[in-house]
Amino acid sequence: MAASPFFTLHRDLPREGPGNRAELDAALAQVTLPDAPRILDAGCGPGADIEGLLDHAPDAQLTAIDGQEHFIAQVRARWGDDPRVTALFGNMLDAEGPFDLIWSAGALYFLGIETALAEMHKRLAPGGALIFSELVFLTQDPDPELHKQCLIDYAAIAHVCELEDKVRAAGYRLVSCSAVSDAAWEAYYTPMDARVKLLRLDAGAELTKVLDEAEAESALWRKYKRQFGYAQIVAVRET
Ligand SMILES: C[S@@+](CC[C@H](N)C(=O)[O-])C[C@H]1O[C@@H](n2cnc3c(N)ncnc32)[C@H](O)[C@@H]1O
Repeated sequence: MAASPFFTLHRDLPREGPGNRAELDAALAQVTLPDAPRILDAGCGPGADIEGLLDHAPDAQLTAIDGQEHFIAQVRARWGDDPRVTALFGNMLDAEGPFDLIWSAGALYFLGIETALAEMHKRLAPGGALIFSELVFLTQDPDPELHKQCLIDYAAIAHVCELEDKVRAAGYRLVSCSAVSDAAWEAYYTPMDARVKLLRLDAGAELTKVLDEAEAESALWRKYKRQFGYAQIVAVRET
């Protein structure tokens, strides 16, 4: 079966959202994990963060789950021989836990953040940590063009302080909330922009539409990156 235009663009990109090793290291440095922790990478995409997670917890049992089969195929191709890693194609809510760490780069959004916070809370062991990133406004007064586009693309986007409040209200102690760095965004957009340029050479109408949308998305971030971005939350299950 031919790949959809979306996956023609996204196939084999190193990651599917902003993030990099420095962000992961900074977040993991703030939590204490037990020996042999049970880790869930919820919405793992192609598995860009698995190596970093295992470097921090070499004796971990890590479950990587994603709702896109070809991402899980990529994870299995790289980690299939590693007995520490279980790669599952499915809904992240199918992973029952309990987990000592739930890591989710840019994926809780798909459940709706309040639902996701409640569902992940149930899957954490007492004192377990939830680390995730989520798109937020960094200003109370975003430019109207940005505001309009964000509401079209990410209906649930809110100011970063609202996200912090939701985390606390869901029974977590908020350890930190920080804006994901420009370098972490570039780790996503630089390879994607390069792929867009290459694919344009031979793109039909459907693919051109997807490429236009991708280009518009990265251009919006470059124009307004001080007004919106990903917040990386480190939180610990409190109740
Ligand atoms: C923005 S991408 C981030 C992927 C990866 N964490 C990364 O940073 O490269 C979000 C991922 O979440 C996955 N996803 C969305 N909803 C999901 C669900 N309910 N269960 C499992 N995976 C889901 C998507 O397939 C996608 O791979």
